[in-house]
Amino acid sequence: MNQNKKKESAAKKALELIKTYLHKESVLGIGTGSTTNLFIKSFLEAEIEIKGVVCSSLASENLFKGSSHHVLSLNDVYGIDFYIDGADEFNERLELIKGGGAALTREKILAHSSNKFFCIVDDSKKVDKLGKFPLPIEVIEIARSAISREVLKMGAKPVFRQSITTDNGNQIIDVHNLNLDVPYDIEEKINNIPGVVENGIFAKRKADKIILSTDKDVQIIE
Ligand code: 5RP
Repeated sequence: MNQNKKKESAAKKALELIKTYLHKESVLGIGTGSTTNLFIKSFLEAEIEIKGVVCSSLASENLFKGSSHHVLSLNDVYGIDFYIDGADEFNERLELIKGGGAALTREKILAHSSNKFFCIVDDSKKVDKLGKFPLPIEVIEIARSAISREVLKMGAKPVFRQSITTDNGNQIIDVHNLNLDVPYDIEEKINNIPGVVENGIFAKRKADKIILSTDKDVQIIE
């Protein structure tokens, strides 16, 4: 099965799992990326009535234009019932690396505000240890070099992602070869560097379920 088909299967399974719990007052959190886009497609086709969606990026918000769904601000709701999003890597403890699509800060805010976070992935995202995928860090522009020097002191290699400005108007550094033996500690350590807005380790608020699509089937890891 090709990767896109697997992504589609994971997305459809997520919808199948949550749809009986959705009702007129439900708020659905929507992540960013190609797997999430396939979830949005299935969700729009299903015509389920909910209070609205809160999206982690302008790109995802755009996919709801012309639909009957209200795009809400997180400020206008008490919380999110279900947050659906992809990942760049996950491990067996349901910890993630996210931010390949540069939406990590809003993604972490939405995940933190959600009652349930279901992560939809294909089997290329499974790792024994996080860190093969370079860790994205969203930074304030004037702090970029200072933060890069701190990352070098940690024995890792920072690379400025020149092509992108985030939806929050900031920059991204991708960190290669970072030792992520204890993701929770590194998540905190990096976020303590002045000028870091957020990093893509999701260990403090990890996924509640990984919906994993393989060649054979779709598995639920929790
Ligand atoms: C965006 C993300 C995405 O969830 C992650 O990059 C996975 O994307 P895709 O579903 O396209 O493989 O974290 O910031």
